[in-house]
Amino acid sequence: MSETIKHKIEALSKEIEEHNYNYYVLSHPTISDFEFDKVLEELSDLEKKYPEYLSPDSPSQRVGGQITKEFKTVKHKYPMLSLGNTYNEDDLRDFDDRIRKAGLSDFEYVCELKYDGVSISLIYVNGLLTQAVTRGDGEKGDDVTANVKTIRSIPLKLRGKDFPDEFEIRGEIFLPKKEFIRINDELKSQLIEEGYGEEEIFEKQFKNPRNAASGTLKMQDSKVVASRRLDCYLYALLGKDLPFETHYEGLHEAEKWGFKVSADMEKCSSIDGLIKYLEKWDKKRHSLNVETDGVVIKINSFDQQKKLGFTAKSPRWAIAYKFKAAQVSTILESISYQVGRTGAITPVANLKPVQLAGTTVKRASLHNADIIEKLDVRLGDTVFVEKGGEIIPKIIAVDLSKRSSDLFSESSHPTIYITNCPECNTKLVRSEGEANHYCPNELGCPPQLKGKMEHFVSRKAMDIDSLGAETIAQLYDAGLVKTIADLYELKKEELLKIDRMAEKSANNLLEGIKISKAVPFERVLFALGIRHIGETTAKKLAYYFKNSDSLKNATLDQLLEVGDIGERTAQTIIDYFADRRSAEIISKLKHAGLQFELSEEQLTTTTEKLKDLTFVVSGVFNKFSRDEIKKTIEQNGGKNTGSISGKTSFVLAGENMGPEKLKKAEKLCVPVISEEDFIKMIAE
Ligand code: IVH
Repeated sequence: MSETIKHKIEALSKEIEEHNYNYYVLSHPTISDFEFDKVLEELSDLEKKYPEYLSPDSPSQRVGGQITKEFKTVKHKYPMLSLGNTYNEDDLRDFDDRIRKAGLSDFEYVCELKYDGVSISLIYVNGLLTQAVTRGDGEKGDDVTANVKTIRSIPLKLRGKDFPDEFEIRGEIFLPKKEFIRINDELKSQLIEEGYGEEEIFEKQFKNPRNAASGTLKMQDSKVVASRRLDCYLYALLGKDLPFETHYEGLHEAEKWGFKVSADMEKCSSIDGLIKYLEKWDKKRHSLNVETDGVVIKINSFDQQKKLGFTAKSPRWAIAYKFKAAQVSTILESISYQVGRTGAITPVANLKPVQLAGTTVKRASLHNADIIEKLDVRLGDTVFVEKGGEIIPKIIAVDLSKRSSDLFSESSHPTIYITNCPECNTKLVRSEGEANHYCPNELGCPPQLKGKMEHFVSRKAMDIDSLGAETIAQLYDAGLVKTIADLYELKKEELLKIDRMAEKSANNLLEGIKISKAVPFERVLFALGIRHIGETTAKKLAYYFKNSDSLKNATLDQLLEVGDIGERTAQTIIDYFADRRSAEIISKLKHAGLQFELSEEQLTTTTEKLKDLTFVVSGVFNKFSRDEIKKTIEQNGGKNTGSISGKTSFVLAGENMGPEKLKKAEKLCVPVISEEDFIKMIAE
């Protein structure tokens, strides 16, 4: 019997990996998603029943689940070097000359696209993926094996038999362009739901697919990594006595072992051939689903590579050619200065609208005062705007030949950075070592006050969902609320005077505000919006000091005793409580009945049994109410969420749980547990 089960598990694993290979490597699906999920489910069920046959290279492992608390540092067997860069035909001819001067005359190049992602080194022993390490500093990198195993195009087990017993293969992990858009869109919807403003959402979104790929690869929860659908092209084989003579041949062999090797690689024997390849891909690359920033040119023969050797930083036998980013010139019409929720000032260039890489560009980021000074950009200037991998284009230089010599023109004098806040006229400050100017008038500057209120009412803070950014702006502009404390003094008659505010919405709003008075202390602390105090820090502080008075009286040393709180954060807390205006707000909020201390229950029964675990509680329960269960989860350090995602650790299912939820949990391989299982979990 057990032999049959073992064979069944092996056969299912093989079948699933074959489908993965067809889909992710060959881009040629041979099964429907539905059928695929069914086979995977069958395998997972068998593995759950017979865990003795669960192999580390089972395709069921690709859905993730392993949490990496800290990535282990690993020394590379062969250092991971970078490449020298070239930007034009002349540089390439110089490279070609250097090779000839080194004594080679009969040689071949291989041209490949330069993928813009994160480099990775994969180690295979006896056909199994044993370790995946990031580049790190080139000498040592991070062991990200658990996360890399979720990438479907990377074989966990090699195909065929002709691979060396031990070898290393390197490549580029990337996030396909479509995935990047999907993830950013999802993140945006989630942040909107959590009450974040437009500017914060922009700050929190990934700026380009490369950042997204490197951020994802370093996440602790491999389930989230699995949900992000990273991909990987392999472009270099390393090892002792590899059984081939050329790079090209090696990669084609690797393809047979199951690796994804780019079909766009080409052999080429002359500089003219190289140039043709560059010209072709400079245009064609935009239609690929992966970001590329150039071409890598390598000498094909391993023997000749060895002869050429390395400089301290890069191989002499390879070079990168960087594509020019799309560029255009236009006129700088004005500079506006935006004040963010935290008071950070961002200068923005308003440009004469111009077409660039398929979109109309009207604005470009100018980042900060140093950049403006360095570029010496002036009003009326003709500027070069470039759109690289980033969403917002940037100004890269001024076309000085177009600058007017007229002494009375706008561009005759350098741009003078603003000295006072454009919103409240307070003198701006710039701390040492910081690039940005700040408006220090945290408790008096309108966008900061509105921003603070938006944060205060957001879901993870006071969760007053009847109060959105627009209503806050209306309330503020009408002079009804100046600080968060004023929210608790709002009267229905006042609200009804506001545009588009009917009886029902006014009632809802007041009810939401009233309910928020029961929000626990740690969330109130987070809601106050003290700089550097995020959700986790607020929780730590709340549990450490237990009430706001002890926190207020804490010394710097006492604050530093709380885990993960550095001097900068500690000082911010001291400054916040020392400010007369914050003291006044807190006193009003206390008076209104908000929670400024841990509850009796919180004080008595807190454990960390469910730390880092996220639950979705659904259905009707026998022994406890749903709210009691949710509370117990939080009291034991766990988190509750409403919808099932790759991040969910468990679905706690009661009676009558919706079949859609159950299906989703199964699809994402999230374990579904009963009330009894949960009670056992807590009692253990
Ligand atoms: S070969 C010895 N080939 O570009 C260097 N690199 O600065 C071996 N990259 O860190 C690298 N596509 O992450 C090579 N087809 C390709 C590449 C490629 C992207 C990245 C790689 C490397 C960087 C070079």
